[in-house]
Amino acid sequence: MSVFLDALARKPVPHTPIWLMRQAGRYQASYQAIRSKVSFLELCKTPDLACQVTVDAVDQLGVDAAIIFADILLILEPLGVPFGFEKGHGPKIHTPVRTAAQVDALAEKIDAKESLGFVMEAIRLTRAALDVPLIGFCGAPFTLASYAIEGGGSKNYYEAKKLMFGDEGLWNTLMEKISTALGAYLNAQIDAGAQAVQMFDSWIGALSPAEYRRYVFPHSKRVLDAVKDRGVPVIHFGTGNAELYPHMQDAGGTCIGVDWRVSMTEARLRLGPDVALMGNLDPAYLLAPVDVMNAAADAVLAEAQGRPGHVFNLGHGIMPQTTVDQVRALVDHVHEASQR
Ligand code: CP3
Repeated sequence: MSVFLDALARKPVPHTPIWLMRQAGRYQASYQAIRSKVSFLELCKTPDLACQVTVDAVDQLGVDAAIIFADILLILEPLGVPFGFEKGHGPKIHTPVRTAAQVDALAEKIDAKESLGFVMEAIRLTRAALDVPLIGFCGAPFTLASYAIEGGGSKNYYEAKKLMFGDEGLWNTLMEKISTALGAYLNAQIDAGAQAVQMFDSWIGALSPAEYRRYVFPHSKRVLDAVKDRGVPVIHFGTGNAELYPHMQDAGGTCIGVDWRVSMTEARLRLGPDVALMGNLDPAYLLAPVDVMNAAADAVLAEAQGRPGHVFNLGHGIMPQTTVDQVRALVDHVHEASQR
């Protein structure tokens, strides 16, 4: 029995389950100790270390689910888009993808079990080491395409939008290649033992609903269709624009992950009773006094009304300035305050 999987299945649970996006990372001393010896990419590619940091987060926080330690960008390598991480600057794609010749050169298909085999091995090791469910994940087509085109993080996504608006055919070819690879990747993670999967559309809020529908929806749907009959819950997460959630729900997912810019009450009204919801505390509350954070968590729980189908999470990932004690306090508080 798992409160996390039961909540995703919209069954009644004894307390609201909680896990946190980016629950493994630099805010932990144990993570910093490992990172002082290996680079971030080496860590992702060394299954026993990836397993260890995944398990450390569960042990330190007492959360109800684990997420495999990896990164949404790893799939860019087998697709043919090499990248690295620059200290303090985040990801850097060596040659941003902006021309037809570059899109043509990308792989039509990837063998995820082979090229991303280290993720599958990390999943197998972690399943054997854990007694809470393990989540596999990928980035969503728009978020990955925007990294590939921009060459890294971006504020306004002008390069990505320039290609999207300027050459819809080329955009669709790129998005088709990415989404086909993502479907194979998620299926390989499920085969390796992932008990739920999440697709992160972190930067989707840069678009309007009409643009989402035209340029993104068919591609996100392709990924989610590829896993919809696998019998595992699928979390579809996006941030930045609550107007998009009903369209994301249409594209697929048994749970929609929402950020703090919309209330849980409003999200439930818009998305209806037939989907689970995940969210939605602003991660900035982890930097506030504990009583202020707890009151904000209570407000999220009150809005969710103890109805079936709520998984507590942040509206986006934990920030590096957070302390482990504060995160642990949040997990304990949500468990106590939601006892039924
Ligand atoms: O605990 C977990 O959540 C599992 C691991 C995980 C990481 N990244 C580890 C990581 C997950 C699920 C991700 C997802 C991810 N990666 C997203 C989607 C979620 C989100 O936050 O929006 C995105 C956009 C990325 C891309 C990425 N990876 C960026 C922009 C950066 C650099 C900026 C940053 O936050 O550090 C990374 C690096 C990264 N991914 C780190 C970790 C722990 C830090 C690397 C380090 O140790 O220096």
